[in-house]
Amino acid sequence: MSIKKNSNPDNTTTEGYKTDHSPQRKSGERDPLLRPEWRYIEKFNMDDFRAEDWSLMNRQRSEYLREQQSRQVLELLKASKDAPTFGYAINNYEHCLQTATLLHKDGYDEEDIVAGLLHDIGFIVCPENHGQFVADLLRPYISERNIWMLEHHEIFQRIHLHGYYEKAEPAFINERERWRDHPYFEWTAEFVEKYDIIAINPNIECLSVDFFEPMVQRVFSRTR
Ligand SMILES: [Fe+2]
Ligand SMILES: [Fe+2]
Repeated sequence: MSIKKNSNPDNTTTEGYKTDHSPQRKSGERDPLLRPEWRYIEKFNMDDFRAEDWSLMNRQRSEYLREQQSRQVLELLKASKDAPTFGYAINNYEHCLQTATLLHKDGYDEEDIVAGLLHDIGFIVCPENHGQFVADLLRPYISERNIWMLEHHEIFQRIHLHGYYEKAEPAFINERERWRDHPYFEWTAEFVEKYDIIAINPNIECLSVDFFEPMVQRVFSRTR
């Protein structure tokens, strides 16, 4: 058994933007454990695991998640750092950074900034349901106010997307009015108007993702 080496002989795709993917592991190699003192479960079918295997696994997993969860969420976001766009002047990664930067400049708190940073993390990979995607990602760690905002921000955008929808029935475009008296209506409308639909501007200077990383770590270490 050998441990995989992290080499990457060719990190450029045919489309010409950089990726950083290791080559496929050779048969028989293992990925390294996070801690050298940890143990592998020496079984390759979960059906064969028994209680002692799961208790070891769960012990290692909880420490793993504590350290790795927020880091790997940010890696998910950063995966599209150099992605091309389909028409906006900036890509989805920069849109997310711009939203977070604008919220930070306006003095919003850490949770709002992290919700803004991640609000479109699923936009490319789960386009039709990306609000639900991020709401589920952050649900255990953030307030109902931001869960609701993330879940509904796509609907609240409709009134701003003139000519976007083929069938522009007023009931569909104005669907947000169903929640006019909802306690989170104003925040969601404000988020979309002031921090989302204008965060496509190449002239707005963004804070770096490293600036936001400690905030993401702190939010993911919370329990609601
Ligand atoms: Fe969105
Ligand atoms: Fe957005």
